[in-house]
Amino acid sequence: MADKISVMITEEQIDEKVRELAAQISNDYEGKNLHLLCVLKGSMFFTCELAKRLTVPVTIDTMSVSSYGAGTESSGRVRIIKDLDESIEDRDVMIVEDIIDSGFTLTYLLGLLGSRNPRSLKLCTLLSKPERRQVEIDVDYIGMEIPDKFVVGFGLDYAQKYRNLPYIGVIEELDTEA
Ligand code: IMP
Ligand code: MG
Repeated sequence: MADKISVMITEEQIDEKVRELAAQISNDYEGKNLHLLCVLKGSMFFTCELAKRLTVPVTIDTMSVSSYGAGTESSGRVRIIKDLDESIEDRDVMIVEDIIDSGFTLTYLLGLLGSRNPRSLKLCTLLSKPERRQVEIDVDYIGMEIPDKFVVGFGLDYAQKYRNLPYIGVIEELDTEA
């Protein structure tokens, strides 16, 4: 038996949302260079699709942080696994996230990156689960708000699996025999 996954957001709906976000961001950053920070690994797919549709000049860096173990609950502790390659001083920076859940990860990242003197620092997330928030954060661009369900696909994983699904789905039933 395999895990049972149902579709929550189709590939077409994701594509439409990414286009809308890209159009808005391109408009807001007209005349500027935008430095995107992809938060690995969850945000890889979203960052690529968003970047492809931006019409302003873009550069991309990556960083990897961890607030979860192998399970689905945030520990509240955030750890840097891979830092950025380049300085963000005096640059117009945008953190690109897959999903905001408790808000712990982004609160930590905003504090850390804000102290490195970017010219501006904004936040874009594809998904947000407002019911789960434990710390308040100001998000500049949100693709979609979703209910309190654990989702996978389009970069999001469950125990490192399902990142490659082209849609966003909910695990309805776990295969307990595997
Ligand atoms: P937060 O620190 O609780 O806001 O969690 C942020 C990170 O947890 C996200 O960047 C994801 O990597 C992961 N995460 C939160 N909710 C989900 C989910 O529903 N599916 C997969 N990963 C999730
Ligand atoms: Mg993430």
